[in-house]
Amino acid sequence: MTEEGLMGSALEWGRHYAMVEPSSYRIDYAINPYMDPAVQPDPVRARDQWQHLAATLRSLGATVEEVPALPQAPDMVYAMNLGLVALRPDRTGSGGRSVVLSHMRHPQRRVETPAARAWFEAQGFTPSYVGREGIGAHFEAGDAFPFRGDLVVGHGPRTDELALRQLAGDLGVRVRGLRITHPGMYHLDLAFCPLDDEHALVCPAAFDDESAHRLLDLVPQPVVLSEEEAIGSWCANSVVVGRSVVMPGCPDRVRSRLDALGFDVVLVDVSEFHLGGGSVRCLTNPLDITVGLLPGPDAAAA
Ligand code: ARG
Repeated sequence: MTEEGLMGSALEWGRHYAMVEPSSYRIDYAINPYMDPAVQPDPVRARDQWQHLAATLRSLGATVEEVPALPQAPDMVYAMNLGLVALRPDRTGSGGRSVVLSHMRHPQRRVETPAARAWFEAQGFTPSYVGREGIGAHFEAGDAFPFRGDLVVGHGPRTDELALRQLAGDLGVRVRGLRITHPGMYHLDLAFCPLDDEHALVCPAAFDDESAHRLLDLVPQPVVLSEEEAIGSWCANSVVVGRSVVMPGCPDRVRSRLDALGFDVVLVDVSEFHLGGGSVRCLTNPLDITVGLLPGPDAAAA
């Protein structure tokens, strides 16, 4: 039964994705607590799981663009980290298409950025950077989500706090920074998942106390996850298409909450990608994010 009256408006993004095909996916190094080069993914199962995820998104009405992988970039399959798409609100409907490319914390992943740039440019996006090639602030796009007109950005393990001011200036958006302290939830998308404009999955254990409280204040109706739920099932690393939540796993307690809120849980097995430290959200990059609110007649008063 749905909790009447509690349903928010569906997210305005999440119907168009880029995914990097998994032909180069391997564990060549360890840059997060899950990776161990002694434990390699099975390439056939990884390909099948990736194709099933893409087919599931398409069956829900989303479009998926397949990005070719670079042979020398075994982590590029985690497409979320290529960059943050920011379509500009524009009353004429012809607003700019821009992308803030990631400046990866770990040099092993920086080889991905020129390929990401070329791909986004070919799709008509104008690229920008907050830092590049080891100089300037680090920014990894798995740390950033639009929510209720703001940009919520995690910093600490991967993104530098310094990047936040620059993102706010470049994108013309209010940035809400959250300090991540948990080594196993090193990107925001492992601990936070907007579900609609009222609800989000939130794992407070990923953050310092102050940031955990600020995030809980920011989300009108949080679905709070314990550390065990977030780490054990990767459930915050999910993708929302309308009212469907495509999840790598979902503890029973969380499922009952989502059912009651009127969400449809769709489970997909992406276990091979957990070996590299990523799941459903990390494998998909939304191309339809509009950053900032459409300027209205009362914008000045807001
Ligand atoms: N091996 C990748 C890394 O450590 C995993 C990235 C996961 N992606 C994400 N959006 N959380 O960078």
